[in-house]
Amino acid sequence: MTTAAALPRPSAGPGEAELGATEFAQIAAVMQREARIHLTEAKRTLVHSRLSRRLRENGITSFRDYVALVERDPVERRTMVIALTTNHTHFFRESHHFDHFRSVLMPQLKGRSKGQSVRIWSAGCSSGEEVYTIAMCLLGRDRTDAAWLRGADVRLLATDISTPVVQAAERGVYAAAARDSIPEPYRSTWLRPHVDGFEMAAEAKALVTARTLNLFESWPMRQLYDAIFCRNVMIYFDDEAKADLEARLVERLAPGGFLYIGHSERLIAPAKLGMSLAGQTIYQKNGGPR
Ligand SMILES: C[S@@+](CC[C@H](N)C(=O)[O-])C[C@H]1O[C@@H](n2cnc3c(N)ncnc32)[C@H](O)[C@@H]1O
Repeated sequence: MTTAAALPRPSAGPGEAELGATEFAQIAAVMQREARIHLTEAKRTLVHSRLSRRLRENGITSFRDYVALVERDPVERRTMVIALTTNHTHFFRESHHFDHFRSVLMPQLKGRSKGQSVRIWSAGCSSGEEVYTIAMCLLGRDRTDAAWLRGADVRLLATDISTPVVQAAERGVYAAAARDSIPEPYRSTWLRPHVDGFEMAAEAKALVTARTLNLFESWPMRQLYDAIFCRNVMIYFDDEAKADLEARLVERLAPGGFLYIGHSERLIAPAKLGMSLAGQTIYQKNGGPR
């Protein structure tokens, strides 16, 4: 393993503070404690570039002073955690998950009698593209497809540790370029023009509730979920944190429910958790449909 001292320090621009190994380790410890996000040495340059702005905005000239600020000020600590999260996402990302969702799970959900709830959770939702992709799948390819939702008890929960991305999810407004990854006919049916690009249709927004939630704190939700999408989130955690989170997610799944994870992720011990592989990075909780 390469040691911290052996790696080159990220080069600081003129007037920029350098991020030494000690301060990097202190920042990594805060991220581990607050969000269970595991920062390896390879992330030192990224941390340096994302936090240099925080130093400037606080009128601070060294990372040593910045770490001291973070340790004493919970507001800056939160801001730092948010600054160091990676929020990359797009509509219909890893589209095979949505093919599975539409062909395997949706027929079951549509077959439920009125009054039986449908609950889906996008955990680590970033700015909401994932949850609105699920919403568009549920709404269907045209407005008549959406008829089954009238009077049905269907709720999509979207949560993330970062409040700014949760607010973006709540707003449901995206830059025009984001439209490119939405296939037809979803694009022409469920998007509305907006001065900043486009806005999700009211029918999609009505299904979604967005909330700030740290996955390693207690969860206020009591219901079980038919599907949980927790994709490209666990890659940031170490094995112990992943194992904790996996067990908690599975507990929150209804029997027969599906867990969708990111393309480079694997459940550590699926059989022990009562989960069976149901497709590429798709797991089903044993116990059959409700
Ligand atoms: C790369 S994005 C993935 C977005 C979406 N799930 C997807 O696959 O496109 C990872 C998200 O996980 C969130 N995240 C990281 N650590 C978290 C934690 N401890 N609790 C809740 N969300 C967290 C980040 O804020 C970020 O928005």
